[in-house]
Amino acid sequence: MSIDFATLELDSLESAGLKSVPMVLEEFQRRIGEPDITPDAEWAVVDGKMLISRYHFIRVANELKAGDSSHETGVVLKLEQEKLGLADTLFWKPSIETALADDEVRVEVRAVGLNFKDVLISSGAIVEPSSIGRGMGYECSGVITAVGPLVTKHCIGDRVIVSGTGGFFATSVQRSQHVWKMPDSMTFEEGATFPVVYFAAIYSLLDCGHLVKGMSVLIHSAAGGVGIAAIQIAKMVGAEIYCTVSNEEKIQFLMTEFGIPRVDVVLNSLAGEMLHASWKCVAEFGTFIEIGRRDFVGQGTLAMELFESNRTFVGCSSPPSGLASATEAIHKPHRLRDDAAYLFVGGLGGLGRSVTTFLIEKGARHFIFLSRTAGDMSDDDPFVCELEAQDCVATRVSGDVNNYDDVVKAIRTVAMPIAGVLQASMVLRDNSLVDMSWDQWVTATKPKIQGTWNLHNALLREQAEPLDLFFLFSSAGAMTGQWGQANYNAGSTFLDAFVSYRHSLGLPASVVNIGVIGDVGYVSKNSEVLDTLRATSQYIMGESALLDSIELMLKRSVGTANTPQGSALRSYVQRSQIGIGMRSLLPITSPANRTNWRKDPRMLVYRNLEAADAAAAGSSASSDEELTQFLRDVASNMTMLKSAESAALIAREVGKTLAGYLMRSDDELDIGAPLSSVGIDSLISIELRNWIRRRLGADITVLEIVRAESVEHLGEKIQGKLVEKYLARAG
Ligand SMILES: NC(=O)c1ccc[n+]([C@@H]2O[C@H](COP(=O)([O-])OP(=O)(O)OC[C@H]3O[C@@H](n4cnc5c(N)ncnc54)[C@H](OP(=O)(O)O)[C@@H]3O)[C@@H](O)[C@H]2O)c1
Repeated sequence: MSIDFATLELDSLESAGLKSVPMVLEEFQRRIGEPDITPDAEWAVVDGKMLISRYHFIRVANELKAGDSSHETGVVLKLEQEKLGLADTLFWKPSIETALADDEVRVEVRAVGLNFKDVLISSGAIVEPSSIGRGMGYECSGVITAVGPLVTKHCIGDRVIVSGTGGFFATSVQRSQHVWKMPDSMTFEEGATFPVVYFAAIYSLLDCGHLVKGMSVLIHSAAGGVGIAAIQIAKMVGAEIYCTVSNEEKIQFLMTEFGIPRVDVVLNSLAGEMLHASWKCVAEFGTFIEIGRRDFVGQGTLAMELFESNRTFVGCSSPPSGLASATEAIHKPHRLRDDAAYLFVGGLGGLGRSVTTFLIEKGARHFIFLSRTAGDMSDDDPFVCELEAQDCVATRVSGDVNNYDDVVKAIRTVAMPIAGVLQASMVLRDNSLVDMSWDQWVTATKPKIQGTWNLHNALLREQAEPLDLFFLFSSAGAMTGQWGQANYNAGSTFLDAFVSYRHSLGLPASVVNIGVIGDVGYVSKNSEVLDTLRATSQYIMGESALLDSIELMLKRSVGTANTPQGSALRSYVQRSQIGIGMRSLLPITSPANRTNWRKDPRMLVYRNLEAADAAAAGSSASSDEELTQFLRDVASNMTMLKSAESAALIAREVGKTLAGYLMRSDDELDIGAPLSSVGIDSLISIELRNWIRRRLGADITVLEIVRAESVEHLGEKIQGKLVEKYLARAG
């Protein structure tokens, strides 16, 4: 069993290929003697070049930001957000410059208007793709650089105002009817703040409110953008204007600017009680125009008796089509489908649940869970209730993925098409290879091999509509081996190869080779396994690392164009596969390092990275790593979590994050001071809540944040939530 063994792949058996055999053999034998590195086990000769394999290390977050455009030309930058709700994850993403349609123009953007809607999207308050369209930036100005063949009213070089979604682009492609020439006297900055508010005011007051000379109009929030535009429109038609504003300073502003003293039409953006009071202000035959969203979204009620006097209530939550056209979802952001189902094999297991929550965040709403015991799960199960609460439909099918008929049964349980498959089934039967029984081998490999074939074949036969994704949960053991798991690793290796096979058929597929996850999933529930892995100095990941990698791999489901066309290396580079958690807590050169891959020649790049990291940062861990280590430690050590030091550390980290949001330095924020004196508003509270949920894993509400006496107190509250969470998990 301990023979030195290598494979050599030749692209031809002509003399040039054959000549390489003795050279490879010689090199292989020479390396056998090296004490620190084992010889390369995989060789290939392609186009006369000798190839060996090396793992290259990437930061998933950077890859997500860079997207898949690295090989493309005509790349433009677009403002995107890595995590909705976290403003500090905004970044410029390179996107492919699209070709112009007949009636489109390309605008080199010079200025972009920032609207409250952008803030709501960025803070995660608006998530509907139809409302977001092509992304933030609903108005901009710039210069036309190209026009489609049927465009007649614009020329290259025109200075223009643009009203359309996705304005935070370096260049923006828009339909020509959403673009207007700017007067020469207007600056780009003025032009970029014009469309949203003036279109809203014109459409609401003139088209919906039919405001004409002699009528009266009540304008709420009159010193805001829409308010000022509405005053100007109302003055232009000669209406009698009444305004409300929130403070004396704004009253002074309106008096000086427009000569208005301190109603047929009400232009309203106020919510709750104030909406009801304003509704009562509408005169007979008058019109109430609602341009806010809160009571629409919150399903508010309205006093109906006022309709008796021929009053009209107009809902005007979206910018009018043909003007702003913000709702056009021409290029949807990367979202999963809510009108199709996702078949998740083993999705009710540990990692499966966590990944399901992630898929919901990405827009999925219909799930088919297939596993041997899925149907036994009670409707009262907290996970099932949680899915229902998020408007998801979860069909649970008891069946064995190894059995083709069971897979077909699962596919046929829903009437809608299946958009994606996630295959996470796993059965472990660990034993050393020499002692392993045939039954142990088959039991562990079958769900991975036979199960995956069944999913692949059944979907091809049962459904005409192509899948968007076919995602496979593999193991890092498939890359590096793991003692006692030859069967499981062989099954996982099959998954890795299956991705290339599906790509060869032009079908989507991707795979993550997962290392050790310490806070969810099988390993987290088996403390002995976790302790054994810890003893090998293997790095233990948190679930967020897995979710980021899955996001990247879902984006890279499609195999074609993954690698440069025509390259000889094409079939040796698989960008739809990633291994995560390939790190050690000890230096790879340390004699105490017991990871089984430390002598693996494919990991040689790791040594370079380690050396570079040590040089750059000394040996001190960054604050982020400190927090990660803390969370990892307290997850298994309740005494430590309950200590006053833990609450203080949490408070410090929350304080640092909050200081960042408030654009202050860490020491400027007094974590003992009342939160009200810190200057925290509702948007920052939402942002902080999102950070606490993601980074600390504590489910806290905005109200709890706003009501906390101080950051210190908030730290204690979060500590309590974490204790509850871990106790529930343990019990
Ligand atoms: N947790 C980790 O650290 C880790 C590390 C590396 C790789 N992974 C991979 O991640 C995936 C999920 O791991 P996990 O930790 O969540 O494991 P888990 O909690 O044990 O979940 C595995 C799931 O597979 C289902 N399953 C097993 N055999 C099946 C069959 N024949 N047909 C249908 N379903 C079957 C099980 O449900 P039933 O018992 O009801 O059938 C269970 O829900 C696995 O594919 C694993 O290889 C995990």
